[in-house]
Amino acid sequence: MAADALFRPFTHKSLKLKNRIVMAPMTRSFSPEGVPTPEVAAYYRRRAEAEVGLILSEGTVVARPSAKNDPNVPDFHGEQALAGWKRVIDEVHAAGGVMAPQLWHVGSARNPMTTWAAPPPVDSPSGFSSPGKKFTEPMTEEAIADTIAAFGRAAADARRLGFDAVELHGAHGYLIDQFFWEGTNQRTDAFGGATLAERSRFAAEVVKSVRAAVGPEMVVILRLSQWKQQDFKVRLAATPKEMEAWLTPLVEAGTDILHCSQRRFWEPEFEGSDLNFAGWAKKLTGKPTITVGSVGLSGEFIASFGGESSKPASLDNLLHRLERDEFDLVAVGRALLADAQWARKVREGRNHELYDFKKEALASLA
Ligand SMILES: Cc1cc2nc3c(=O)[nH]c(=O)nc-3n(C[C@H](O)[C@H](O)[C@H](O)COP(=O)(O)O)c2cc1C
Repeated sequence: MAADALFRPFTHKSLKLKNRIVMAPMTRSFSPEGVPTPEVAAYYRRRAEAEVGLILSEGTVVARPSAKNDPNVPDFHGEQALAGWKRVIDEVHAAGGVMAPQLWHVGSARNPMTTWAAPPPVDSPSGFSSPGKKFTEPMTEEAIADTIAAFGRAAADARRLGFDAVELHGAHGYLIDQFFWEGTNQRTDAFGGATLAERSRFAAEVVKSVRAAVGPEMVVILRLSQWKQQDFKVRLAATPKEMEAWLTPLVEAGTDILHCSQRRFWEPEFEGSDLNFAGWAKKLTGKPTITVGSVGLSGEFIASFGGESSKPASLDNLLHRLERDEFDLVAVGRALLADAQWARKVREGRNHELYDFKKEALASLA
């Protein structure tokens, strides 16, 4: 099946993309002391040169003491780190690319890959790393206000440096998601509550702060997931009605595009329909959405951290869904990590030249 549906242009507000392929945000930990190096810039530039429509950066952290869980994760604050990011966006633009930083705060999520720990206090809604595991104090109201402001400042910097959009990491059990999740948010103030809509308040405030910082025209993308790294089976929204109650305040706060993270894009979100998460999010909010999860690969990404290899897989199911506009954009993670030329090869039908994904690809910035 020809991949034409992936190569239609896309426009939303000031964001103009030549095709529907998005590089998924992927932490690489190649930025010593939080500063992206020239090698990091060259890594993103190679994807821009090879026809990726929109590049989302690896998660890059806002200015809170415990926002990251690895010293080599890039910061999105401070003169040196921002100078590193300026080089990144300038090189991506020179190659004809379009890019958004993914603004991140890990909250209380632990990193199994390192024993390094950020300086306290750890920010989390109720001091839990996962349900039942309380190890620290809940965030104070002052810490919450400062964190919301820190996201806004990072977004203002993204705009000042010339990035084309911003993405907020609200998924996978990190800080913003810890507020959504009942298991990790047991607050009794305005940032907690029995309903998902109430627990969406923190995310909505972050989106408002970011929107105020970037103005009305710059696109704000919000990444969400039902699943958590602490528990793959968790579902925040069990029905379309609950999903609508979750997403509506986030859209009203100023989100333009919802990035709906699944580990396997083809898995239906609710019984009785084959729509996936991005399909439902688009149907319920009317907003453009991004799908993601094992596009073009046989196995999913968490297993690949454990060493499982994946082989190139057919794009037909994805293309059928894209042709009927179930969602608007398609994020590709590991296939683009392993092969900067992936988008070009797909457009030219060079499928026999696509690579397997092997864990070794994580060891360098190729
Ligand atoms: C090495 C690696 C690092 C990742 N880091 C992030 C991250 O910083 N932020 C994020 O939202 N997702 C992160 N992810 C998840 C990816 O964005 C994507 O959702 C996932 O890999 C599924 O896409 P794929 O099957 O095409 O790889 C990471 C995935 C990988 C493989």
